[in-house]
Amino acid sequence: MTSTSYELVLRQGRLLRADGTIDQVDIAIAAGRIVAIGPELEPGTFELDLEESLISPPFVESHIHLDSALTAGEPRWNQSGTLFEGIEIWRERKQNLSLEDIKTRAIETLKQQAMQGVLYVRSHADVSEQNLVALKGLLEVREAVKDWITLQVVAFPQDGIYGGPKNDALMEEALKLGADVVGGIPHYELTREDGVKSVHRIFELAQQYDRLIDIHCDEIDDDHARFLEVVVACAIRSGLGERVTASHTTAFGSYNNAYANKLLGFIRRTSINFVVNPLINITLQGRTDTYPKRRGLTRVKELWQQGTNVSLGHDCVQDPWYSMGTGNMLDVAFMLVHVAQMTGIAEINACYDMITYQGAKTLNLASDYGIEVGKPANLIVLDAIDRYDAIRRRATVKHVISQGQLIASTNAPLMQWQR
Ligand code: FE2
Repeated sequence: MTSTSYELVLRQGRLLRADGTIDQVDIAIAAGRIVAIGPELEPGTFELDLEESLISPPFVESHIHLDSALTAGEPRWNQSGTLFEGIEIWRERKQNLSLEDIKTRAIETLKQQAMQGVLYVRSHADVSEQNLVALKGLLEVREAVKDWITLQVVAFPQDGIYGGPKNDALMEEALKLGADVVGGIPHYELTREDGVKSVHRIFELAQQYDRLIDIHCDEIDDDHARFLEVVVACAIRSGLGERVTASHTTAFGSYNNAYANKLLGFIRRTSINFVVNPLINITLQGRTDTYPKRRGLTRVKELWQQGTNVSLGHDCVQDPWYSMGTGNMLDVAFMLVHVAQMTGIAEINACYDMITYQGAKTLNLASDYGIEVGKPANLIVLDAIDRYDAIRRRATVKHVISQGQLIASTNAPLMQWQR
């Protein structure tokens, strides 16, 4: 590679490597790929002075619902703040979905995410509605945005696979249309037996259509919601392991320790992924508690300590379940530090890894993820010193480079003491 073929050279950045070390380097990009990393590279056609800002792999959003994003208050506000009132409001709102409605809100949300450093997204699409408008809309969006963001779409049966006579057929139709991932919601199936049956059905469909699995699992404070053990058993027997994700699993925080410890041991026999959504679950859960009030979070620290892959999701942005947020993954990591009490320095750094490398693992992104010569030039530049500083200040993402192109820049706020 001669110097004249560098299309873009990033100068004087501080590169966060996969092992957590940081080196000051230049990075050269050509034809959408990283072609050189090192000190004092030759000039490129374009140059960007990073002023010693932190270079990181992009953020990975492991769990969001783009189909319901930006609908808070439509047709009414969620007054109880519960998951179940949210499902009822969404059931009303989704009666008049159109492809344009879905696509407009999804692309707007994706732009907000990308401008804040997210370049990989897994979105659930509600497939309990008979025309599959949400799914079809998000599949069109996946194609429309592929030049600047990678979108995975989960066929998510919001009302349960067995909650209505047509729901099972709608799930299968969604996979035939091209959904990347099979979803589920066993704790919201009408009976315990239906919930167990739904998990078996999800694994059957995933194997039949060669898709990943991501199940909303035990998102309730009920300590008898024990579908995670069914997911783990199916993962062990099928060998699907890292292709399987259990999302939320908030009931895990309410299980007695004897049962929880047994379950942690079973989880060690698989390589399934967990997705945690601390922004939303700290607000949704504990709503039927008086005091003491539970935090409504799965056992993040224990899962992380035993080497299980955990990544993070914003889950909702301005919708019937969660009216806050902008899609910023540093907000998610910041909340996890608090709610899961991940306050040791290694724990804080792990929270950052949960929105980068560990998210990439959940999404089964190929070895393309990361900042190395030969890989696609997907990276972000933060106004931060290191991972701890990035989370502490929820640092501004100054530049976003996707497939070799600078797609967004933001000026970090400048505070001036005037006295
Ligand atoms: Fe969700």
